Amino acid sequence: MKTTLTLMLLVCSVASKRPPNIVVFLADDLGIGDLGCYGNNTIKTPNIDRLAHEGVKLNHNLAAAPLCTPSRAALMTSRYAARFGLIGEQDTPPVIVHIASQAKLPHDEITLAQRMKKNNYTTVCVGKWHLGSGCSMFGHNCRGPLDYGFDFFKGLLFTLVDESRGPYSFWLFPLDDVFYQGLLGCIIGTVVMLWFLHKYRILNNKGNILLAVMAVLMLALTWFIPVIQTHYILATVMMFWFLHKYGVFCNKGTILLTIIATLTLVLIWFIRTHYRFHTSKWWQVSPWMDQHMNGILVEDEKVIMQPLVLDGLSQELVEYSIDFIEKHAKDDAPFFLYHAFLHTHTPMFTAKEYDGVSQHGRYGDNVEEMDAGVGAIVKALENNGLTENTIVYFASDHGGWLEGVEGGERVGGYNGMFKGGKGMGGAEGGIRVPGIFKWPGVLKAKTVVNMPTSLMDLMPTLVDMADLTAMDSKEIDGVSLSSILKGEDDKTQRSLLIHHCRKAIHAIRYIKDSHIYKLHFVKYNWLSGTTDFGENDLCSCYGDHVTDISDTPQLFDLSTDPYEDHPINDTDPLYTIIVNEMQQELSAWQGKVTYPPSILSNKLGTILNPFIQPYNLNC
Ligand SMILES: *[C@@H]1O[C@H](CO)[C@@H](O)[C@H](O)[C@H]1NC(C)=O
Ligand SMILES: *[C@@H]1O[C@H](CO)[C@@H](O)[C@H](O)[C@H]1NC(C)=O
Repeated sequence: MKTTLTLMLLVCSVASKRPPNIVVFLADDLGIGDLGCYGNNTIKTPNIDRLAHEGVKLNHNLAAAPLCTPSRAALMTSRYAARFGLIGEQDTPPVIVHIASQAKLPHDEITLAQRMKKNNYTTVCVGKWHLGSGCSMFGHNCRGPLDYGFDFFKGLLFTLVDESRGPYSFWLFPLDDVFYQGLLGCIIGTVVMLWFLHKYRILNNKGNILLAVMAVLMLALTWFIPVIQTHYILATVMMFWFLHKYGVFCNKGTILLTIIATLTLVLIWFIRTHYRFHTSKWWQVSPWMDQHMNGILVEDEKVIMQPLVLDGLSQELVEYSIDFIEKHAKDDAPFFLYHAFLHTHTPMFTAKEYDGVSQHGRYGDNVEEMDAGVGAIVKALENNGLTENTIVYFASDHGGWLEGVEGGERVGGYNGMFKGGKGMGGAEGGIRVPGIFKWPGVLKAKTVVNMPTSLMDLMPTLVDMADLTAMDSKEIDGVSLSSILKGEDDKTQRSLLIHHCRKAIHAIRYIKDSHIYKLHFVKYNWLSGTTDFGENDLCSCYGDHVTDISDTPQLFDLSTDPYEDHPINDTDPLYTIIVNEMQQELSAWQGKVTYPPSILSNKLGTILNPFIQPYNLNC
């Protein structure tokens, strides 16, 4: 009898030792100075502040990269993105730039979600992915996160693009513009050519001319509307074959001429129109195309909205997360919810009720709408009695975008007193981000951690705290923060952090005793009197943007000079000692780890590939 009871008690305690649920909130481009709990007294973020109040606030939390794709890749894998090449180089795009491109997180990387899955978690990704859509021919199998350990997905396979704001006109033909005058000239030339060909009986009947013109228009349209392009291309090819078979195109010359005319028109119309807007970024697409092709909402593998309707989208995604929590609250298995907000990335958008609520314009409204989203999801945990057994994490993928301007209004985040911002991997403002852990009963409320921590620490920390079985893994760059968060230890297990700007190493951070040193190998050539590069600039790792100072790198002690105002003099004996130690650490790293070529340097894999464009079949 007694043994049975003990056994029953044992079984019960084993059953109740179900691992905790995990909720990860990731903000997009949010600056560390944008939150009340990090000292902002005019913006209202009560829900995020409450997380910090009831949990652990990380004061020295760092993104592994200053841009979305590499930072998220590092968060998901706990490894620097440079290790597996999902990071830009000089002359490559800085991130994945189209939904319909082949670049993606390599499948042999092990993600946080896969780890959770292995431990029988139910996993869901909501919001922005931006680690590759995985689409195959005709936009099929755009599985995105589903290929990386997530059971469910609702959100953007790619990212918000400024053009999602729209609407943009499809036809752009401003004749006061010299480009378009030239274009008109070319079109007239083509018509004259066709007439000429007709007159001299090269195109020998009206039917042929008509067909040639139709084919030209169709192909031009085909190329111009990639949303439906694959169908049109097939139709065009079949039409050509059909016309040929039934002798309507009666000779090879006609076909050749039609093809030449087609290509000419396509080239003129597409490249010139497009080029006018994207001279320096030719691989991108025109505003209309961007809105329609990249602004797509997906649920699991299905496109459910195209183009995006932004207003109310934040609420729609939050609702989805709440539904998910309710559906799985009573399951035997715990869940992992990764809610990656579209806020506060440009373009700015909110539902009507958040229009003008903040003291900080459109940007502030976006921050406050996001905060409300955090509140609603946390409330759902409470309503379902899950608060105690859920670990909540909040962070931003990197620093605020200082140069962001929309319609004359500044729309970037605020990085507090830290210098620089999004896009600048060595500058503190580009990588210093908010970080909050909450797990009532395990982590003491109002704890503050001043040691450097990284988004890459999330995976090992969760594995450690939730006692998940380890999984065969590659070497990771994150460390478990478990004992630091629990207040059992104030030392971190790492001494070195590397700060990449694209693939270049712009700075390193070194933790020694109670000091945190940072060594800069480049200097950013900011506009004078600022720590930014001016309106809408985003490519700041190479070229004119930086000066190489690796001969005499700049050293700061962040423990006494957090905002890097007073470099340690290079004649100071301490400079030589510390710089030598840091250089040695870096050499050891470089001797141990080799970086493969960037995935983004493969042009064919990076450009828009119309054949894999996903589209909404119901629209
Ligand atoms: C609060 O955030 C807003 C919006 O980013 C910013 O403009 C403002 O300077 C911040 N204020 C403080 C005191 O940090
Ligand atoms: C996950 O579930 C399977 C099947 O129910 C079980 O065999 C396995 O031990 C579980 N794994 C963990 C880590 O709990």
